[in-house]
Amino acid sequence: ISKHAVNKKGHLLLGGIDSIELAKTYGTPLFVYDLSLIRERARAFINTFKEQNVQAQVAYASKAFSSVAMYQVMNQENLSLDVVSAGELYTALKAGYPVERIHFHGNNKSKSELLLALEHNIGCIVVDNFYEIELLKELTTELNQKVNILLRVTPGVEAHTHDYITTGQQDSKFGFDLLNGQADRAFQEVYQDENIQLLGLHCHIGSQIFETVGFKVAAEKLIKKMIAWYNEFTFQCTVLNLGGGFGIKYTDEDTPLEPSVYVKEMVIVVKNLVANTDFAMPEIWIEPGRSLVGDAGTSLYTIGAEKEIPNVRNYLAVDGGMSDNIRPALYGALYDAVIANKIDEKIEKEYTIAGKCCESGDKLIDHISLPKAEAGDILAMFCTGAYGYAMASNYNRLTRPAVVFVEHANHQLAVKRETLEDIVHLDLPLTMEKE
Ligand code: LLP
Repeated sequence: ISKHAVNKKGHLLLGGIDSIELAKTYGTPLFVYDLSLIRERARAFINTFKEQNVQAQVAYASKAFSSVAMYQVMNQENLSLDVVSAGELYTALKAGYPVERIHFHGNNKSKSELLLALEHNIGCIVVDNFYEIELLKELTTELNQKVNILLRVTPGVEAHTHDYITTGQQDSKFGFDLLNGQADRAFQEVYQDENIQLLGLHCHIGSQIFETVGFKVAAEKLIKKMIAWYNEFTFQCTVLNLGGGFGIKYTDEDTPLEPSVYVKEMVIVVKNLVANTDFAMPEIWIEPGRSLVGDAGTSLYTIGAEKEIPNVRNYLAVDGGMSDNIRPALYGALYDAVIANKIDEKIEKEYTIAGKCCESGDKLIDHISLPKAEAGDILAMFCTGAYGYAMASNYNRLTRPAVVFVEHANHQLAVKRETLEDIVHLDLPLTMEKE
């Protein structure tokens, strides 16, 4: 019995819709997002904070997948929004995102990006470094404008999936080091500034994390720093942002916890450390990306050429590849897939799923057992909703896929497929004479 939703034809269902019909209607490669899963994840985060009786903001880390319609979904769910560039900010403004719930990240924000953020009075800038403090002082003075900030700190906790490590000094391009006095110096530079209003601290310890311990250690380090500043300078930080990074299940080897578990455990650490002090419980903010949209996304590809290498492997090529999902090539990321029109058929053959880019390393899945595949079959690759389309490129001048939203048996186009005309629309003809 298949663990996937299937109709009478033996076709995979996505959001209640026949995936083969979606492939026919919109073409392939196609990203399909099931909005109901995204809403479920968003509500789970929000409800966990409510149950814990803690003031909170849940911000969608939109680098995972950014588009006008996706921002509108996140706004419907009352999430805040983490943007990291003028491009993401501009997209958010186009989507009508309430500016007071936009948070602006980045380790090298340009003057024009900061100006755009100030012009639109966005909710919070997450300040990364001393140069940015300088720029912000200069700009807010010039414009005579106030701005809310968080200071991003590097807590010396790094987490990857199962392991976490604490280091005295972390080699990271992001944030002020908590342990060597940088964070204290940054605090000194801003906490009495007239225009810059320090809300609190931010950290982000990694991505695709399965265990809670790294988050708890980071939470403890940051809250202790905030309490220390309170005791020394009677300055009350009101926000503690603990970033994102909650893992998801790409394949059966992945063992993430329920997203709410991470939140609950961090909150308990903070509550315990704040108890019996005069320091007021801060708002807790988080920034999940992958855990909101990752498993809601499925990529549909049309299968084409097959190449058998006896006793080695069978390559099965699809009409996309590293140009729409670079994660396997870049990180060795693993994915699960099915033949969407053969869900009920018997598993018969081992394949390597190859992309169509001119690189031997363009393999989407190294080993997978599937029913016998034929040209024209549709491959559905799961859990591609985060950092798939977002990291897509026009390598080999491939056109980027379309993105479709499905929910309760409805569907709509959210991002159009690129056309060949789009491919050349920035190109200019040669005008210089040949010698
Ligand atoms: N907040 C900050 C400051 C971040 O840098 C990130 C991710 C997030 C939140 C969201 O993390 P998430 O909840 O999605 O794990 N391209 C890589 C992932 C890069 C993550 C970068 N920062 C991948 O495809 O695995």
